[in-house]
Amino acid sequence: MSVSHKKIVATKNENSGIVRDGFGSKLGVIAAASGSAIGLGNVWRFPYITGENGGAAFLIIYLACIVLVGLVVMLAEFVIGRHSQSNAIGSFKKIAPKTPWFLTGWMGLISAVLILSFYSCVAGWCLHYLILMISNTFAGASPDAIGGMFGEFISGYSPIFYQVIILIITASIVYLGVKNGIEKMSKILMPLLLVILVVLAGRSLTLPGAMEGVSFLFKPDWSAINAQSIFIALGHSFFTLSLGMGVMLTYGSYINKKENLGSTVVAISIADTVVALLAGLAVFPAVFAFGLAPSEGPGLVFAALPNVFNHIPFGNMFGALFFALLAIAAITSTISLLEVIVAYLEEEVKISRKRATILSTGVIAITGALCSLSNTPLLSDVKIFGWTMFDFADKITANYLMPIGGLIIVIFVGWCMKKSDIENELLLDGKKPWYSDVFMVLVKFVTPVLIAVVFLNQLGIIG
Ligand code: PHE
Repeated sequence: MSVSHKKIVATKNENSGIVRDGFGSKLGVIAAASGSAIGLGNVWRFPYITGENGGAAFLIIYLACIVLVGLVVMLAEFVIGRHSQSNAIGSFKKIAPKTPWFLTGWMGLISAVLILSFYSCVAGWCLHYLILMISNTFAGASPDAIGGMFGEFISGYSPIFYQVIILIITASIVYLGVKNGIEKMSKILMPLLLVILVVLAGRSLTLPGAMEGVSFLFKPDWSAINAQSIFIALGHSFFTLSLGMGVMLTYGSYINKKENLGSTVVAISIADTVVALLAGLAVFPAVFAFGLAPSEGPGLVFAALPNVFNHIPFGNMFGALFFALLAIAAITSTISLLEVIVAYLEEEVKISRKRATILSTGVIAITGALCSLSNTPLLSDVKIFGWTMFDFADKITANYLMPIGGLIIVIFVGWCMKKSDIENELLLDGKKPWYSDVFMVLVKFVTPVLIAVVFLNQLGIIG
């Protein structure tokens, strides 16, 4: 029933009597949670929004958000999940019965559906690029032509086909309950993705003109920063760490009581940040070397990297491996998203895992196809708040629903949960760790105030 378990660690759920299983090993938890965190957010979304928001200064704000907000929200989610031994909605009902806190879980479910809708679409693009790489389609093509091919591809109908394949793979893994699957897969394939990114960054950095890309990424131009870009950096820190919508809360409920939550949170966040930085180092030097625009939007990675592969011996094979690994990294994220919905339907609505999986995947196939179609002439004119459906699903979740969910989560832990229950979850070998008090201050005051200030600033109410 859990996403991953090496040896099953069962804990009796007092209310329902359902036996929940959990992660068997420390590495298993880190692998599965990093599997959720690391994905298209790091390799596709991070470079394109960094490019749109002026580079280095944005990167610094994003890193600050990871430390001051991301770490705290993740630990808060783990504390809620492990303490309650329940899903995103059930946890709130258990800790604070007969209060509206459980609505936070509902917001998380809506986010999961919306994220899956556009995320599976982009994961599908990777499958298509995998095939283009194998068939050596980009060989000898100019950077312009490569960019053009991307535009043409996403404005057609074939992306839906790939998207459905991604959803079917995700649903099959979630349905099977995965046993060893994800844990093993993540442990081997995530490091491999890292190696390939290092090679890519190495090649990208040695291209003529690459240094311009390095300064773009590391030499801050503070004039490019405004309320809007801070708001987007905060949103992305939630998106990239899978926060504010129940994934880490649900995974937290599967973590063995003996694990050290603090060091787990730090390990996941470091792994996630390293992958994003490597992706930036692979993309931006190439963007400048090939004369592309860093602000070109969601197509950035797909327009930039094929050029790099064209400059590597056996580049098409490297490229194929890269897009295969990226698709797999995306699937370890889509699994965590679907798991939030399925765990809820199974435990709260009490329908079978099979039904829950089929039902939710069916709904997402429809909303997902709408996102795909919003890149085609058929639905490109249908706008919600001025965004296409694809952009709406991306922006409303990352920039609004997830940070608001995170704000509620830290307020819940800081102000509603019993201090002794929180401290109990943080205990290390029965002793209170040094960061326990620091966490209390951050979760009560610093993190909620920071999130609120960024929102009020964005809305023009302060600043
Ligand atoms: N964190 C994932 C990524 O960076 C995306 C994600 C968001 C996954 C929310 C689960 C929940 O790709």
